[in-house]
Amino acid sequence: MTEILVTRKIPENALRALIDAFGEEAIDHWSTDDPIPRAELLERVQGKRALFALLTEKIDAELLDAAGSQLRVVANMAVGYDNCDVPAADKRGVYITNTPGVLTETTADLAFALILGAARRMGEAERFVRQGHWHTWSPTLLLGVDVYGQRLGIFGMGRIGQAVARRARGFGMEILYHNRQRLDAATEAELGARYVDFDTLLAESDILSLHCPLTEATRHRFGATEFAVMKPTAVFVNTTRGPVVDEAALAQALREGQLFAAGLDVFENEPAIHPALMACENALLLPHLGSASQATRARMAGMAADNIIAVLQDGPPLNAVNRDAVDDFLKKC
Ligand code: DGY
Repeated sequence: MTEILVTRKIPENALRALIDAFGEEAIDHWSTDDPIPRAELLERVQGKRALFALLTEKIDAELLDAAGSQLRVVANMAVGYDNCDVPAADKRGVYITNTPGVLTETTADLAFALILGAARRMGEAERFVRQGHWHTWSPTLLLGVDVYGQRLGIFGMGRIGQAVARRARGFGMEILYHNRQRLDAATEAELGARYVDFDTLLAESDILSLHCPLTEATRHRFGATEFAVMKPTAVFVNTTRGPVVDEAALAQALREGQLFAAGLDVFENEPAIHPALMACENALLLPHLGSASQATRARMAGMAADNIIAVLQDGPPLNAVNRDAVDDFLKKC
């Protein structure tokens, strides 16, 4: 009887850890690089005690019910878990685990790469060279905006936002931030970051980088109204979740010169990208690669596997986002 469903080809270390702990026969592995179709997922999850899932799978009441009451844990190989209906998992006593901490620096690296790449028009420049348009050095060729010494706005000052701020200090940047909760004074001083209200963040940032989770409060937090008050020289960067931004409004702002450029790693309906955004030369677009280094993906997968091993061996999960709710549920059983 298989006990664990793994929904994609995953780094070898994680598969090995699961096999060592439970044996090969315990694992039902959808081992391709393509997402498991929903119908297949609903069928194969039946009777499983653990699900190793990715952010491309919707973990909702339908799926939890299809799995049945023996399901103990959904290990999501991502730090974000907006693909999971956590209250539905609470009600069924299923732990949802994520992968905090291990991808912070890698994701901050990519955010900074997008800041630099969008400000200095690297996407356009690369296309220009490959298409054979480069004939001479020119004083006016593909001019960008500076990053060094500029004012960086950070929306969402958690682990990744702070890691981006640390990088920005090396670029002599002034750092503004807005967050649900203000940081303590010592952390603000260490980062050299100044707390501002949302409107000030929009109006004063030369570069604005998003690092908030996707919640009902942050869905479409950035749209036409927000872009209208930003500087026309501003660079807008999103490495968190696509639906935080109204993509159509962003495309319009980029097209009409309300913003200088955007660097985007995430999109509202991945892998689809709004056609108007695809048409913007000043949008640097990546396929959700924030955590995509070999070492970090191995750490994320290893952490997801360790969460499954811990729960199926009757220990506490290493990092469940709903630990208290599920512990309470289990006490009442
Ligand atoms: C996450 O972990 O939430 C990312 O989006 C994938 O690394």
